[in-house]
Amino acid sequence: MADAANGVPTHRDLTGLPRTPAAGLSPGRPYELRRVRTKRRKSALFTLAPETPADWWEVEALYDLCFAPGREALSSYRLRDDVPPVEGLSLTARDPEGILAGAIRFWPVHVGDADALLLGPVAVHPTRQGEGLGGLLIRHSLDVARDRGWARVMLVGDEPYYGRFGFRRLDGVRMPPPTNPDRVLGIALAPDAWKGVTGPVTRWTDTPVPGVAPPA
Ligand SMILES: CC(C)(COP(=O)(O)OP(=O)(O)OC[C@H]1O[C@@H](n2cnc3c(N)ncnc32)[C@H](O)[C@@H]1OP(=O)(O)O)[C@@H](O)C(=O)NCCC(=O)NCCS
Repeated sequence: MADAANGVPTHRDLTGLPRTPAAGLSPGRPYELRRVRTKRRKSALFTLAPETPADWWEVEALYDLCFAPGREALSSYRLRDDVPPVEGLSLTARDPEGILAGAIRFWPVHVGDADALLLGPVAVHPTRQGEGLGGLLIRHSLDVARDRGWARVMLVGDEPYYGRFGFRRLDGVRMPPPTNPDRVLGIALAPDAWKGVTGPVTRWTDTPVPGVAPPA
């Protein structure tokens, strides 16, 4: 679906509300309420906002709840060591009471000589799963990434889930071992952005990208 005024894809089909242009994000300011259709409830309202330092430990606690213990031992975390998650793309979703319902983070990485974003972790609180919130966080953050000029996004995850957002297996892109190559997926945010991009995925060493940090 596309916004007639500016050709930007919208989430009206998912949310029932018009989309606010992603470029309008500013750190710490909730920018939109979205109505998410649910199977269990008629609807739920969530506020999406860029993650701030004040959110940091709540987001960590949500990830600890949603992932197996020792998540930080995964090889993908070596790409995150000493590199902050990207500010403005890393989002929180809170319910009307302000309770954290979901969160998504992104890191900059290199793939061979190219720049890319590594999506994840993304998690939704177990009591909120299946309401469309994971999809909302993913779709919206990809819109923000596109608006900010990022051309390609990758992740390690289940194609049956991420395929619905357009992620496909990336041939020739090698995550640090041990990683099942079938779980290395990517999406192009610009035409042919993954064409000819192969090689090892390595930690970001370029000019620092503004990031979210734990509170001092
Ligand atoms: C994965 C996760 C973020 C999805 O969030 P969510 O809000 O429940 O997702 P949505 O409501 O947008 O989508 C739900 C749909 O995705 C499907 N789905 C969820 N996880 C899936 C998976 N790993 N593989 C295939 N399908 C999956 C559900 O079955 C449901 O399908 P339906 O639409 O046909 O009913 C959430 O389940 C979660 O936090 N899981 C634990 C942490 C995790 O595994 N994160 C991803 C790491 S790769």
